[in-house]
Amino acid sequence: MSDEPHLWSGRFDDAPDEEVFRFQASFGFDRRLFDDDVEGSLAWAEALAAAGVLSAADAGAIREALVEIRQRGRDDPAFVAGPDEDVHAFVERQLVDRLGDVGRRLHTGRSRNEQVSLDLRLYLRRRLPELQRAVVALVAALADRAAAAGQAIMPAYTHLRRAQPILTAHFLLAHAAAFQRDHARLEAARGEADAMPLGSGAVAGTSYAVDTAALARRLGFSRVAANSIDAAADRDFVASTLHACALTMVHVSRLAEDLIIFSGEEFGYFELHDRVATGSSLMPQKKNPDPLELVRGKSGRVIGHLTGWLATMKGLPSGYNKDLQEDKEAVFDAEDQVLGSLRATTTVVESLEPRPERSAAAAGGMLLATDVADYLVDRGVPFRRAHEIVGGIVRDLLAQGREFESLAPEEWRGYDSRFAADTGARITSRASVGRRRTPQSTRPEAVERALAAVRAWAGAQRGE
Ligand code: ARG
Repeated sequence: MSDEPHLWSGRFDDAPDEEVFRFQASFGFDRRLFDDDVEGSLAWAEALAAAGVLSAADAGAIREALVEIRQRGRDDPAFVAGPDEDVHAFVERQLVDRLGDVGRRLHTGRSRNEQVSLDLRLYLRRRLPELQRAVVALVAALADRAAAAGQAIMPAYTHLRRAQPILTAHFLLAHAAAFQRDHARLEAARGEADAMPLGSGAVAGTSYAVDTAALARRLGFSRVAANSIDAAADRDFVASTLHACALTMVHVSRLAEDLIIFSGEEFGYFELHDRVATGSSLMPQKKNPDPLELVRGKSGRVIGHLTGWLATMKGLPSGYNKDLQEDKEAVFDAEDQVLGSLRATTTVVESLEPRPERSAAAAGGMLLATDVADYLVDRGVPFRRAHEIVGGIVRDLLAQGREFESLAPEEWRGYDSRFAADTGARITSRASVGRRRTPQSTRPEAVERALAAVRAWAGAQRGE
């Protein structure tokens, strides 16, 4: 490396120290931006020609060479490699190899500071929709499982203690709701990346009359960055992307945790398909939820990318600083982990088998205490008073190892004369679910409407 000229060789007596050069090089990871870098350079060459800085012949030659370079990179990813400091230097070297001095004209009025911001924005503009598609696929899988669950009942939990009966479909749609928010957050991050930084130069703006609005349109941006100093150093869109990724991972991790618990022997509300479980090398009986555990584990790593990136940004003086190069590894890894986790979880959900007898059995008994209290409220008892009466019944039942279902009509009446003959029939988990009234409740009609809405959403996202 040390024998070859560098982008800045003119100013320096000595070539860079080999190890230090490697340390600060980013080509190992920013090669992912290859396509975007070429795209940006094609547009820049056109803009320079339109501004009269490049002759039409030079611009044409640059264009042809860039298209050829891009094709080689697409045909053979191994082509995008070499001793270069970063992907921008690589593309320029390829151009100069082909065109000599003509290639050396492309960087006129442009800085790598704005170039790298442009490339990452272009990259996220095209990659975030891929993450959104993976979110939609998981939401659709949850909706399908909710439809398949039909009227199956399971307990809902608070404090991880059995709380109230719900439809299993309601539980699955609760997770879908969180992923729909993630979809919107990814959209918002994509919107933040939608500002075109070229024309900012290194920090003060460029001295050529480049039509930045035309450049923005040409590159698919809806606006131009407003301030050249800010443009070089603004990575808010990176922070927002990492935030959207971290929160998506938090949600996929919570779903994983629920499924790990509910598919275990102690709960058994769902069965994991053999295809998405792993065995033990020692214990023949084991069926482990490794993919879900890994999803839960990876969420910590993606949260780390967000907090790490915020810490990197917080002390930076204005203008470009090399610290900003750290954005890319965080974004690329977050993207990989989110995609991998969403896809693995979607496969797990698609193959999830509900065990309605197990979940229904767990959704009876003491879970119905609130319904007993509501029964009294319907008969004019103030809720606090009803709570107290039912608390007394629960205490007796627990002491005797019995459930509400075992109480005879005269026993009910013994606790309060307002418990009529229909009490036993009204205190079941099915009746409890049916008694809910609000649209966001587990009432079967409400869940059916919610399911239809989620499916319509997923269909609309998929352009159906
Ligand atoms: N590899 C650099 C980055 O990712 C590109 C910009 C370099 N600019 C500079 N002035 N050293 O940020």
